[in-house]
Parts: sequence; structure tokens; C-alpha cells
Amino acid sequence: MAWICKKKWVLVSSLVLAVTLFLVLMNYLEKPYLRLQPMLPYGFRSHWISSWQIKAVRAHPGYVSVPKREPLKLSCDVCSVVSSSGQVLGRGAGTEIDGAACVWRMNNAPTLRYERDVGNRTNLRVVSHTSVPLLLHKPQHFFGPASNGTVYVVWGPRRNMSPDGKGLIYNMLRRAADDFPSARIYVTTDERMDYCDKVFKKETGRDRITSGSYLSTGWFTLILAMDMCKEIRVYGMINDTYCKSEGYRKVPYHYYEAGSRDECAEYILHESAPYGGHRFITEKTVFAKWAKKHPIKFFHPEWQLS
Ligand SMILES: *[C@@H]1O[C@H](CO)[C@@H](O)[C@H](O)[C@H]1NC(C)=O
Ligand SMILES: *[C@@H]1O[C@H](CO)[C@@H](O)[C@H](O)[C@H]1NC(C)=O
Ligand SMILES: *[C@@H]1O[C@H](CO)[C@@H](O)[C@H](O)[C@H]1NC(C)=O
Repeated sequence: MAWICKKKWVLVSSLVLAVTLFLVLMNYLEKPYLRLQPMLPYGFRSHWISSWQIKAVRAHPGYVSVPKREPLKLSCDVCSVVSSSGQVLGRGAGTEIDGAACVWRMNNAPTLRYERDVGNRTNLRVVSHTSVPLLLHKPQHFFGPASNGTVYVVWGPRRNMSPDGKGLIYNMLRRAADDFPSARIYVTTDERMDYCDKVFKKETGRDRITSGSYLSTGWFTLILAMDMCKEIRVYGMINDTYCKSEGYRKVPYHYYEAGSRDECAEYILHESAPYGGHRFITEKTVFAKWAKKHPIKFFHPEWQLS
């Protein structure tokens, strides 16, 4: 009898030891995550790790609050990422988009009057420094109580975003944070901006600056989403060959700007601009590559990835 009890005890205690060791190891692996992870698209968190910490909210030091510079804490299961492209018009995806744990939008893309196609919830907006003045046209709407806890993540170059009083856009955000203390405004750190450039170079072999291009808000959005979302569902983003395909849909570049230059014309213009263009098409080639390794899916139009 005694030896059975002893055996049981050994079994139980070794089990406890094994679990403890596992947890310690996980914890150890977790801490330097953000350091080991600078090449995050390649270290997209794997399923079994995230299942251990579904409730844990990750603090990301690459994005800091205005003005306190506290790291962004966020974690989502499924994220709907809604493109600002006219592709979303008439697809009626609003309910499906709103069904995700988190709904992400870009810049000042409205939901009012477009709910059927784009949904009506907004948890996060990734905003270009150039779009900040547009948000400040409707400060109550974007930053007041009506914004309902929406998180803003603003990206931009040092000269505009510097918190030392010389950054024009940073100063605007700082004033907005003063006027609306409950607004959740974050900026991308210099290190994170450099990191996003590095990813571009690694993926395309081209230096962003010497090749005369600017990264798009879509680029920053996908990089952030890969860090914060377990699964990403992108709505209304075209693939890299779309504009060469037979009978493609001619839609406005932004769904909320009817009559603006059409999307493909805008893309082609940017792709070939010797200086100051967004390389939208090149970026889509990279997204397709990421989507083969990570849980990213594209809808309206759908991408064939296999
Ligand atoms: C938008 O919000 C209301 C509730 O506030 C909801 O009933 C409606 O179905 C939502 N979705 C869409 C796609 O309009
Ligand atoms: C505001 O946020 C809460 C909690 O996320 C949500 O339940 C509610 O539907 C939101 N209201 C609007 C108008 O978006
Ligand atoms: C890209 O989009 C075009 C037009 O929708 C489609 O015909 C083609 O299959 C797509 N390619 C990929 C790789 O998704």
C-alpha cells in the first residue's frame, strides 16, 4: 500500500514540477518576445502560445500614448481590418465586419451612412500623420465621448511626430489629448518606424527612402495587426494583379470620396512615381506572402492564396 502511495506522490509531484517548469519557460520566452520579435511577421505568435494567454493583454513598446508615453495594451482574437477602398461599396459586409472581436479602420474613414457595407463598430484606427488634421475637423466625433473608447494609433516621420515641441502633428495630438482626456491616442515610436522600413527592405530588397517611396497606412496597419490579432480578416483590399485583370471593378480610391480618381489609376500613378509615391502594388505582393504563413484572409475581393 505504502509503495503505491509513494509512487502516486512521485507521479503527482513530477507532474507539478513539469507544469511549473513549462510555465516558467513560457514566461521566460514571453518577456523578451518584443525584443526577439523585431522581425515580427516571421515570429507571428503561434497558436499554442496564445492559447495560454488568451486573456493576457500584451503591452507593445512600439506604440506609446500621448502624452504619457505608456505602451499600447491590446489583444484581439479575430480582427476585421476595413480598407478605405471603394471595393467595399455594395458588398453588404457590415454585419460580418462587426461580428469580429475587434474592428479596425484607417484614417478618417466614416461609418455613418456606410454601415451596411462597412459596419458600425470601431475599436481602433490606424492614422497617417497627414490625416490628423482631418480628424481634428470633427474633434467631438473622433475624440469625444461619441468615439466610444476607440484607440488611435498615429504613424508619421520624426519631424512631425517628435514630442519635444517641434513636431507639428504631435503637438496637435497633444492638444487633442488635453481637450479630451478620455481619448486614447497613441503614436508610433521612432524605433518602430525604423522597424517598418526595415521590413520593407527585407521583403522587397529595396530601400524605402532611396527608392523614393512612402509606406502606406495599410502597411502600418497590417504590421500592427499581426502583432495584436490572432486572426486577421481584411475587407476591400485588392491584390497585386487586380488592376491588370480582365474587367476589374472600377471604384473610387476611397469609398467615402465618390468621384475621386479611381483606385487602379491611383495605384498605377503611385507605383511609378519616381519620388513620393506609395508602393501600393508592391505592398500587396508582400501581404500575399505573409498571408501564406499567417492567418490573414482577404474578402471583397477574395484573394486566392495557396
Ligand atoms: C449597427 O448598430 C446597431 C445597434 O446599435 C445594430 O442593430 C445594427 O444592425 C448594426 N449593424 C449594421 C451593419 O448596421
Ligand atoms: C460602445 O462600446 C461598447 C463596448 O465596446 C459597445 O457595446 C457599444 O455597442 C458601443 N456603442 C457604439 C455606439 O458603438
Ligand atoms: C487577384 O485578383 C484577381 C481579380 O480579382 C483574381 O482574378 C486573381 O485570381 C487574384 N490573384 C490572387 C493570387 O489572389
